[in-house]
Order: sequence, then structure tokens, then C-alpha cells
Amino acid sequence: MTATLNPTDRIVSQVVNSLLSIKPLAKFAKYQARELIIKRAESIGVAWRDDVKFLRSRGGSEAFSKQWETDLARITNPNLTYPKYYLTSFHAYDRGNMSWDAAMEVEVAAYSVHAKIFAETGTTGDTQLRKSYHDLVVQFLPTAPEHILDIGCSVGMSTFAIQAVYPQAQLTGLDLSPYFLSIANYRAEQQKSVNINWVHATGESTGLPAHSYDLVSLFLICHELPQTATREIFAEAKRLLKPGGHIAIMDMNPASEIYSQMAPYILTLLKSTEPYLDRYFTLDIVQALVDAGFEAPTITTNTPRHRTIIAKVI
Ligand SMILES: C[S@@+](CC[C@H](N)C(=O)[O-])C[C@H]1O[C@@H](n2cnc3c(N)ncnc32)[C@H](O)[C@@H]1O
Repeated sequence: MTATLNPTDRIVSQVVNSLLSIKPLAKFAKYQARELIIKRAESIGVAWRDDVKFLRSRGGSEAFSKQWETDLARITNPNLTYPKYYLTSFHAYDRGNMSWDAAMEVEVAAYSVHAKIFAETGTTGDTQLRKSYHDLVVQFLPTAPEHILDIGCSVGMSTFAIQAVYPQAQLTGLDLSPYFLSIANYRAEQQKSVNINWVHATGESTGLPAHSYDLVSLFLICHELPQTATREIFAEAKRLLKPGGHIAIMDMNPASEIYSQMAPYILTLLKSTEPYLDRYFTLDIVQALVDAGFEAPTITTNTPRHRTIIAKVI
């Protein structure tokens, strides 16, 4: 992301940036991009529109079940102050993660985006991605963790996946979006998943008790954070971990050839939906972990474009 651009790439990137700064054009581009994403998803077997419709109505007759608003009120932490960086547009949703539209589409979007990570996996790509991470976690951790915190748990996909690996563990799923957490809680009730506590808080200051977790997991959250927030979350993870506990991080791999060979205008477009991507790509994550009080981490590529980082607390 920091590579020097050749003159043509630089011009194309500048043109894309200028076009995106024209609001009606950006809106039109977003609409077109969204239509394309949905069509592409449905062409590979993700029932985007049907699944979202079903979730919004909870399989009932109303287009949008009133129960969602009740659940939202119940899960929202009224004392929470949202970090400013969070209240921005993400993933082409104007209200970012703070809306039902975003919340209802997280699952189908994940199935679609992750479908092409490995050749031949199709809609199981998302499951394979999570498995590739958990295989490393299991390999690196000396014993099965009893208490696990999933920071940035979203609608619970990463929490349920890790629960399947460690069914005996007590899990906490923490996120800043009460909309996402409402879906997580609904899914947990549907699956009768016990042992999961959903917490509406910032990863930087969770309010959870010190030295109470064996594993803090960060699955696909760091690329959505400014560097200061990542550092603060690492410091909070250090505070929360028991002696000998581990932090495990799975995210995009800046060293992957897929990103270094990507046309710069695509990166510019990506940045318009992932506002902190360049900060993530330029963060010295190893140093940030060491600064926060962790041993030097292991970094393993778990897919052609993702890496898993695991570090033990000092
Ligand atoms: C890409 S999603 C991660 C998805 C999820 N872990 C999964 O595997 O499906 C990133 C999540 O991090 C959350 N998030 C971003 N910044 C956060 C912060 N400072 N504290 C807590 N959650 C945060 C967002 O609300 C979002 O749900």
C-alpha cells in the first residue's frame, strides 16, 4: 500500500479519488457496486436477498420484525461512548456498522467475500478460512483455553466458530455495534448456544475483569482500526489475559502478493469502503504487540491473503 506508484497508476488512482469525491457519482458507484456484489453472491449460491429478507422478518409476516428493536434496546450499553473513528461509513453503508442494513447483511457478505479465498471451496470458503485460523490456534496453544474473549465478534460468526473448537469454554463476544450484537444474540438463541456472554463495549476499554481470559481472539477486526486503537486493544488484551494467556489475531496479510500486485485504483476503491486499511497495512504489528507486553509473536500465513499472529503474554 505504501509502494511508489508509476505515473499511469498514480493518474488512474487520482482520477478514481476525484470521481469518488463527487457525492452523486460516489452514490451511483456505490449502488452499482452493491448490485454487482449481490448478483455475484447469488450466482455462487449465496441466497443474499432471500436470507436477508428472512432474517429481517425473523421468518414472520412483517417485513421487519418489531422484536429487533426490543432486542436492540436490551443489548445496548447506554453508558458507552463510541470512538469517533468508528462512527463513519464502512463497507459502503453510510451509517457504517451502526445500522440494521449492515447487520442483516454481515453473514451473506462474509460467505460471498470469502468464497474465492481458496480454489474450489465456493460458499464453504468462509468456514475454511475460520478453520485455517483455528488449526493454528489449536497447534500453538499448550492447553485448551477455558475462558475466551472474541473482540470484534460482530454477529457472532467468529464466536460460534471458536466455540465449536472449544465447546467446554466460556465465551465472551464483544463488539461496538449493538445492531450486530442483537443478531449474534438471536443466532445464539436459535442454536441454543449456551456459555456465550455478549458485551456491548469498546475493545480498548472493555470493563471486563483483569486476568480472566486464557485467549483473546481478534478475527478480522484490526484492518478496521486506526493504529492507536489497535495499540490500545492490545494493551487491554494484555490486562485481560491470565498469566501465560495468548492473543490470536487473524486478518489480511499486507505481505501477500495479492495486495502488492493489485492495481492501485482497486486499493483506492477498497479504501473507500475500508477507511483504515492503509493504517493497518503500515502498522508494525509485531512491535505493537511487544510494546503492549507480549512475547515476540509467531506469524503464519493461513490463506493466500491472510495471516494468523499468535503471542503469549509476558
Ligand atoms: C469485519 S468485522 C469482524 C467480524 C467477526 N469477527 C467475524 O469473524 O465475522 C469487525 C468488527 O469489529 C467491530 N469493531 C470495530 N472496532 C471496534 C472496537 N474498537 N471495539 C469493539 N469492536 C469493534 C465492528 O463493529 C465489527 O463488528
